[in-house]
Order: sequence, then C-alpha cells, then structure tokens
Amino acid sequence: MAIRDILHEGDPTLRKISKPVAQVDGYIQRLLDDMLETMRQADGCGLAAPQVGVLRRVVVVEVEGEVFELINPEIIDAQGEVTDAEGCLSVPGRAGLVTRPQTVTVRAMGRDGQVHEYTGHGLLARAFCHELDHLDGVLYIDKMIEELDMEDED
Ligand code: NI
Repeated sequence: MAIRDILHEGDPTLRKISKPVAQVDGYIQRLLDDMLETMRQADGCGLAAPQVGVLRRVVVVEVEGEVFELINPEIIDAQGEVTDAEGCLSVPGRAGLVTRPQTVTVRAMGRDGQVHEYTGHGLLARAFCHELDHLDGVLYIDKMIEELDMEDED
C-alpha cells in the first residue's frame, strides 16, 4: 500500500467526470488499498479516486469502523433531508452546511467484482453522497448553503 497525494480545489482534475471501471483487476485493487491508507492518514471518512488524480469511478468510505469499497456506485434510493456540517480532504481548512438525504441506498461493485447494495443513514448517507459527487466533478462547496467559521470549531 502507498500514500497518494490528495489534489486540492483548483486542480482541474477534480472537476472532470470519472470513467466507469470495466473490470476489477490488480490495478483497481491496489487503487482501493492506497485510497484507504491515504484517507486514514489524512483522517478522513471518505475519498474518491479523482482526489488522488485517478479519473475512475472508485470510492472508499469509512464510518464508525466500517469500510465500504464502492466501484461504479449509483444512488438507487434517497429519503428525507438533513442539513449538517461537511468538509473535504480536497478543500482543507474549510467547512460548510450542506443539505443531503437522511437515508441513501447505494448499489456498487465491490473488490470481489460482485454487485452489493448498502443503505446508510445520517453521516454514512452524507459520505456516500459527497464521495459520489466527486465522480462527477462536484465539490460540496458547490452545494454549501453556509460556510462555517473553522476557528469556532476549537
Ligand atoms: Ni471530498
């Protein structure tokens, strides 16, 4: 496994549409391993492949000790609405309020090449939505309804 560099806002790669993965091979498995290690080192709860400069539809999320590896993920159901604070490893030092669904069901391929469905509530639903947006070049600051003063967080 290896730590990869995380791109920051302003890098045009973050604004591009990522391509679907045709086959889960060693390249994709290594990418998943590196993304998980990179996300943990940066103390994040999600990371999308374009954030490490790879324009493929691959996401890792880790919430409450559970890891989700999502390849070609799609949101197949969304319920409710909740507005809460959000940040992004590609937008360091900032946070803002974003409205997201309360509950989201995602269908994605795993590293086993099989299709899985995951339903998440609250923070997990938020992480799924945030990371899937990255695959379409969308950052949370595009949807932010209010910027939060980070100095108040301490
Ligand atoms: Ni992000």
